[in-house]
Amino acid sequence: MQVVETVAEVRRIRRAAPGSWGLAPTMGFLHAGHVSLVERARAENDHVGVSIFVNPTQFAPTEDLAAYPRDLARDLDLLARAGVDLVWTPPVDEVYPPGYQTYVTVEEVTRMLEGAARPTHFRGVTTVVARLFNVFQPDRAYFGQKDAQQAIVIRQMVRDLNFPLELVVCPIVREADGLALSSRNVYLTPEQRAAAPVLHRSLCAARDAWQAGEHDGERLRGIMAAVLATEPLAHPDYVSAADPNTLVELGDASLGVLLSMAVRVGKARLIDNMLLGRVVD
Ligand code: PAF
Repeated sequence: MQVVETVAEVRRIRRAAPGSWGLAPTMGFLHAGHVSLVERARAENDHVGVSIFVNPTQFAPTEDLAAYPRDLARDLDLLARAGVDLVWTPPVDEVYPPGYQTYVTVEEVTRMLEGAARPTHFRGVTTVVARLFNVFQPDRAYFGQKDAQQAIVIRQMVRDLNFPLELVVCPIVREADGLALSSRNVYLTPEQRAAAPVLHRSLCAARDAWQAGEHDGERLRGIMAAVLATEPLAHPDYVSAADPNTLVELGDASLGVLLSMAVRVGKARLIDNMLLGRVVD
């Protein structure tokens, strides 16, 4: 496994290794969810690249950039064992050199949910992901369904800017009690950790209702909110039952629905989701 810092080195290695490349972009502090992206990339490509970069432009000044968990030695060990060929760990000024001034903005699907709560977040994500795509030039790029809106936003960018790659969205990986894996789970105290599976329970309650024929969006949101309200440590930012492509809140969810939520538990802001029915186009 080669570990490099510069754009020039990534390009040199990429050019010297013919065959297909899969890329899994990450911000490090890797867990089994990231490993599942790498394994899928390994299965579908001749070579696998991973980027580890805590991207400052997707954090607001009030957010946890400085405190974001990091453990590069552990990450590299995990990636070597997962059979990764190339890891890019750029310093900030390799991605954003002095004088940098180009940003990528996706409009409509960034306005709601995470975009409403974190107005500058997706501009940072799409900018850095566009950079990663240009540097690695992957044939396939792997993202987690855990960040459902991020996957929708990147799909829109790939389509709008004609990036010549296939976007692969991999299923959420969960702990045994249903908590979705996230680097931010490390912020939870034992008491908060015990409370956190309430997100998954509330999604399951709405899923069960939907499968039993409850297709009214407002009532599905109500079911999720009611389960969250049973946990005093859970403070919801939003619950959503939205169109899986446009993210517009649904009245009639009979064709399919993306159930999602952001919930503050202590210092952590946890997100989770479930996709029901119609497959995203
Ligand atoms: O999902 C993430 O970890 C980040 O948003 C990404 C896609 C690596 C961009 O910084």
